[in-house]
Amino acid sequence: MCIFLDSSKIEEIKKWKAMDIIRGVTTNPTIMYKDGIKSLDEMKVNIKQIADVMDGAPVSVEVLSNTKDEMMQQAEEFSNIAYNINIKIPFHGPHGELENLEVIKELTEKGIEVNCTAMMSAMQCVAALLAGAKYVSLFGGRVNDMGYNATEEIKKISMFLKDREILEEYYLIIGSAREPLNIIEWLTAGADIITVPPNILEKALIHPRTKETVEMFLNDAKKLEKALK
Ligand code: E4P
Repeated sequence: MCIFLDSSKIEEIKKWKAMDIIRGVTTNPTIMYKDGIKSLDEMKVNIKQIADVMDGAPVSVEVLSNTKDEMMQQAEEFSNIAYNINIKIPFHGPHGELENLEVIKELTEKGIEVNCTAMMSAMQCVAALLAGAKYVSLFGGRVNDMGYNATEEIKKISMFLKDREILEEYYLIIGSAREPLNIIEWLTAGADIITVPPNILEKALIHPRTKETVEMFLNDAKKLEKALK
């Protein structure tokens, strides 16, 4: 069970890595665009920097296309940047193109680790694992946005796979966290990894009552120091 950071901002990644809170990083084209990446060259530099900072821990980088040839070519290119990079392939394309599963199978056969992404159901996760993905990413917040309960999907995947032990090594990542509560809620439902944007991770850790209590300790420490003189 662990936490990944859902970000491509080097400073944020360094900050959380220094505390040893995060065990991996996930990115996607939307995150990279929002974080200010402006060209393919900048993207490659960014990927390399993240991989170096993470020092062997997994870093997910998504392909920028949904055509089979381009996905294959970009997957090879990005995964060659560093040994700890795995490639995000969306479960299917914007028109339901299921050939993405062939891409997952072929990349896995070539020894490139795949994180199958943009999934909304237990059934999709199971299919992606059968195709060979090492990581499967269910977008918990988006599932909840549609009026379903991500926790139920997580329980189904865990029961189906863990009880039957049909696959050797896989990790269920839950992304799209919307609020601090999601982290513990989804981990306890059976997720292996929750990937969290920096602002939500910070909210999950900084508690007003902890601040208040430490303030009290510090004020009383001053009084105690005076009394001890
Ligand atoms: C996961 O790997 C994704 O990068 C991410 O969590 C997607 O979240 P969103 O719903 O905020 O786009």
